[in-house]
Amino acid sequence: EKMKLVNVNDTYLSKFNLDMNNQKVQDELKYAFDLLDSKSGAGNDYLGWVDYPLNYDKNEFERIIKAAERIKKTSEVLIVIGIGGSYLGAKASIEALKPNFSKEKGTEVIFAGNSISAPYLLELIEYVKDKDFSINVISKSGTTTEPALAFRVFKKMLEDKYGKGSKEVAKRIYATTDPVKGTLHDLSVECGYEMFTVPSDMGGRYSVLSAVGLLPIAVAGIDIKELLEGAKEAYLENKDYNSEVGKYALIRNLLYRQGKKIELLVGYEPQLLYLNEWWKQLFGESEGKDHKGLFPASVIFSTDLHSMGQYIQDGERHLFETVINIKNPKYDLKIEPLEVDLDNLNYLAGKTVDYVNKQAMLATVLAHTDGDVPNVVLELDKLDARNLGYLFYFFEKACAISGYLLGVNPFNQPGVEAYKKNMFALLGKPGYEAQTEELRKKLNK
Ligand code: PA5
Repeated sequence: EKMKLVNVNDTYLSKFNLDMNNQKVQDELKYAFDLLDSKSGAGNDYLGWVDYPLNYDKNEFERIIKAAERIKKTSEVLIVIGIGGSYLGAKASIEALKPNFSKEKGTEVIFAGNSISAPYLLELIEYVKDKDFSINVISKSGTTTEPALAFRVFKKMLEDKYGKGSKEVAKRIYATTDPVKGTLHDLSVECGYEMFTVPSDMGGRYSVLSAVGLLPIAVAGIDIKELLEGAKEAYLENKDYNSEVGKYALIRNLLYRQGKKIELLVGYEPQLLYLNEWWKQLFGESEGKDHKGLFPASVIFSTDLHSMGQYIQDGERHLFETVINIKNPKYDLKIEPLEVDLDNLNYLAGKTVDYVNKQAMLATVLAHTDGDVPNVVLELDKLDARNLGYLFYFFEKACAISGYLLGVNPFNQPGVEAYKKNMFALLGKPGYEAQTEELRKKLNK
C-alpha cells in the first residue's frame, strides 16, 4: 500500500482507549462503506468523484492538455478565477509540487476571485497590464460573487486590449463550469469561450481531479496524467473497509466520540500549506453540520511549533493531530562541520537537514502523545504528482466515509447560504428587499 497509517498499534490504541476492533464500530464502518459503494447514502447524487479516476472523460482530458499547451505558448500569466472548491485543489497542487523559488520562465499561474479584496485586485491589474495573459474562470454555479466580480474586471482588461467581441479575447478565456446550465455556461456559449466541465454530480470540494484542478495544474507544468494515476491507485487500494482509508476514518471518528473535537493536520514542509487549506475545506464543509463534526485546523511544523506548540502541548485537551510524513524529501542538504564550532552545531555535522526535520517530527509526535494529544501519522514515500493524486483521493474517500459514520450528508453545504443571503440583502440585490430592511434594523440596534 502506498499510504500507511503508522503507530496505530496496540500500545497506542490502549493509551487512548480506542477499541478499533469492537464489533459494533466495525459494523458501523462497514455500513458506511456499503452506503458509499451502493450509492444509497445521503447526497448520493454527488458521487461523480468516486469512480472518476477510472471513468474520466478522455476526450476532455486531451483538450485540457492542448489548452494548457496553448496557454503556455501565448501567455506569461494565467489568471485562475475561482473560490473554495474551485481553486483550493489547484493551488494546493502547484504549491506542493513546484519549486519554492524558480528561475524558470514558464507561465505564471495566479489565483484571483477567492476574496473580495480591492487592493489584491488592483495590484493584480497593475501586475498583468503589460503582460500577455489568459483567464481560466471556474465556477460550477456561475453565480458566485467573488469570482464573478474578478472575471468582470479581467475580462474587461482583455476586451480593452484586443477589442470587445474579438476572437483574441475569446481565445484567451477558458471557462470551467456546469456542462448544461448556469450564468457562466450561457455567457461562455454566447461569447465562444472554450469550455470545460465541472461534472454535475461532483461538489466543488471533491473536484480537484476534474477539469477544475487539471487545467491550471497542467499549465503549471505538472503531469496531470500522473495525478490521476495516483488517484486511481488510491481508489484501488482503499475499496474495502479494512483499508487505510477505513482505519483513518474510524480512528478520527472514535477520537471525536471521546471529546477530541479538533483535528490538526500537520505537515513538515512549508509547501504543504495549501494542501492543509484544501483539506480543511473538504472536511469542514463535509462534516460540520447538524451541530456536529470535528473542527479541521492545520499547522506547518516546525514553523508553528514556535507559535502554536505551547497550546498543543499544554492547552485544552480537545485535539488530536494527523501528521503527514513525507519519508523522502525532494532534495536534501548535508550539514558541514566548521573548524571552530562557534554556533555549537558541529554535533550535527555529517547529518542532513531532512534528518534534523525528521527528528523534530519524531520528538514532537512523542511529546504531544505524552501530553495526551493523540497522533495519527500518515506516511507517504515522497511528494510527487502521483502521490499527491493518491493523497487527494485518499482524503476524499476518508471524508465521505467519515460523514456517513457521523450521520451527516457529506456532500451538501446548506450552512454556506446564511451569510450569502445577508450579504445580498445588505448590498441591495433585487429580490432581497424585505431582508435588507430587517438587517439594517438589527445593525442599528
Ligand atoms: O465545495 C463547494 O461546493 C464550494 O466551496 C464551491 O466550490 C465554492 O463555493 C465555489 O462555488 P462555484 O464553483 O459554484 O462558484
